[in-house]
Amino acid sequence: MKRSILITTILFMACFAFLVVYSCKDKSSVNSLVAVDEVFPGKVWAGVIPNLKPVKGVGGITAKDCGKCHDEIYKEWKTSSHSQAYVDLQFQAELSKNTGAEWICLNCHIPMQNQREEIIVGLINGDFKYPKTVANEKFDPEFKQEGVSCASCHLAQDEDGETYVIGVNGNTNPPHPVRIERERLKNRCLDCHNEVYELDPTLVCNFQTGDEMAASKHIPEDGKHCSNCHMPTIQRSLVKKSMNKPIRSAHRHTFWGGGVPKNYELYKYLKTSGYKSSLHLEFAGIKELDGRWEITLNVENTNPAHMLTSGDPERHIRIDAVLHFQNEKSSDIVSYKIGQNWEWWPKAKQISDNRLYPKERRKIQIFIPMPDEFTKESADTLSLEISAHHVRLTEENAKSMIENADKVLPEFREKVRNLKEHYPYATEIFRKEYPFAR
Ligand code: HEC
Ligand code: HEC
Ligand code: HEC
Ligand code: HEC
Ligand code: HEC
Repeated sequence: MKRSILITTILFMACFAFLVVYSCKDKSSVNSLVAVDEVFPGKVWAGVIPNLKPVKGVGGITAKDCGKCHDEIYKEWKTSSHSQAYVDLQFQAELSKNTGAEWICLNCHIPMQNQREEIIVGLINGDFKYPKTVANEKFDPEFKQEGVSCASCHLAQDEDGETYVIGVNGNTNPPHPVRIERERLKNRCLDCHNEVYELDPTLVCNFQTGDEMAASKHIPEDGKHCSNCHMPTIQRSLVKKSMNKPIRSAHRHTFWGGGVPKNYELYKYLKTSGYKSSLHLEFAGIKELDGRWEITLNVENTNPAHMLTSGDPERHIRIDAVLHFQNEKSSDIVSYKIGQNWEWWPKAKQISDNRLYPKERRKIQIFIPMPDEFTKESADTLSLEISAHHVRLTEENAKSMIENADKVLPEFREKVRNLKEHYPYATEIFRKEYPFAR
């Protein structure tokens, strides 16, 4: 009797143990931890560059550390959008929406583990919205503010766990370890600037600048490097003058882009950064037709490498047309958009796209309704004013950022509340008046 109870108990316990083990293995049960690269295999943005030791001969890994010797490069980088990738007000406003994808956003905007408070050890049940984290003892809060810093492109770990600098020249003699990995450095841009991915129906990433360049027939295959245009060549010493190093063929680190800087202060660097709008705009005729004016313009994307506009789907060109009558009255302003339109809810999808392909030239038409008070007698002298803006942020999205400012981190909140004072939405790239007699 006693024996059979014992056997039953043992059998029962064995069954129970089996059930426990089995249910833990089952993916659908609570709290199973799945490695990030199992959920997002091969995706660079799913990970970070692991904690790095200070570079020997430098004593640190921040841009500020590099800037002690590479003074001009540091100053240029400071004016670039890369240095603003974390402190950017629009980025901060979007981070505060609590989508669960924040850690993924940060992987491209602050890609070094040393820039992060937390280390992600896995995703609970493989769900990107539930990362499991532990504290990062090597976190450097100042480094975090640097966004896409020198280290994001130039630093890596060797076989012994020491940090080395990724270089391109090879005939230099730096006080820090260097390995020449030219292609790796020059292709690094694509890790962040070329991705189409749907995390869930409303969270979609759509940057295709790399694919646009790959598809372009207007540049030779061996010229297809982002740095060829965005890092113009300049003859100079790589380090500060007092170090007496030779003048070399070097590259500006301004990373100029669509010409809409992250704050008004930065406008003063735009002219010398290498930036020039690739929009070519030409007036091609106006005629009166059925109570309205029909205006024809030729527009061209002079950029041989990628579309106008490229990257973030919100970016676009806005062309405005207005008629002035005898310098007294004006018509309403009529706008024409070159860009994409997206619907974000309930499912993100592209509704339309009329961007200009590399080197594409196109005729566009804008119609201005004739105001009632306008009669033939009152308007012998007319003029048409055309202007164009490169837009980064629409008034509509800016409004919703301001409305939700309370959710933004305290250090950015006041600036988001008074967004217009701190954050350029668009830059004027064209304005001309064309007088004509009717
Ligand atoms: C103590 C001064 C000093 C500091 C700090 C320093 N560098 Fe250098 N670096 C040099 C010198 C000197 C050279 C070689 C210049 C020459 O020979 O013209 C150099 C060369 C380089 C090169 C070119 C190597 C090649 O052959 O292509 C890169 C890239 C570079 N440094 C990146 C960095 C980065 C990134 C940091 C910060 C982590 C950094 N450096 C910090 C002094 C410094
Ligand atoms: C680690 C990710 C990452 C890498 C690598 C990277 N970028 Fe960027 N880049 C960004 C982010 C994020 C921004 C936007 C920052 C912002 O607007 O706040 C940006 C902005 C830019 C802009 C400015 C766009 C504008 O209109 O202001 C240009 C141009 C650019 N990158 C070119 C490059 C080039 C060229 C390379 C390679 C040499 C490169 N990037 C590598 C993440 C990256
Ligand atoms: C042949 C030169 C050339 C090459 C190569 C090139 N770009 Fe550009 N890029 C430009 C020009 C010119 C502009 C300015 C467009 C404008 O505002 O009219 C620009 C603008 C941009 C912008 C801002 C887009 C916008 O519409 O606001 C980003 C981001 C960018 N480039 C990233 C890249 C990346 C990443 C690569 C490599 C995959 C690359 N570019 C290759 C010339 C080039
Ligand atoms: C977004 C990526 C990126 C960032 C950020 C970046 N660099 Fe570079 N850097 C490059 C690329 C790409 C080249 C090579 C360009 C080429 O050869 O066409 C380069 C070249 C260099 C060189 C070799 C000389 C030259 O100008 O070609 C030095 C030195 C250098 N970088 C230092 C720095 C320092 C210091 C910082 C931070 C203040 C920095 N870089 C930030 C991508 C980057
Ligand atoms: C694959 C890398 C990558 C990821 C992931 C990523 N970004 Fe970016 N982000 C970029 C690059 C590159 C740019 C700038 C160039 C451009 O606009 O094409 C940028 C620009 C931005 C900008 C500035 C828009 C502009 O027009 O300049 C905001 C805001 C932003 N990102 C928010 C986010 C948020 C929020 C997330 C997460 C939901 C996120 N990003 C995830 C690479 C990334």
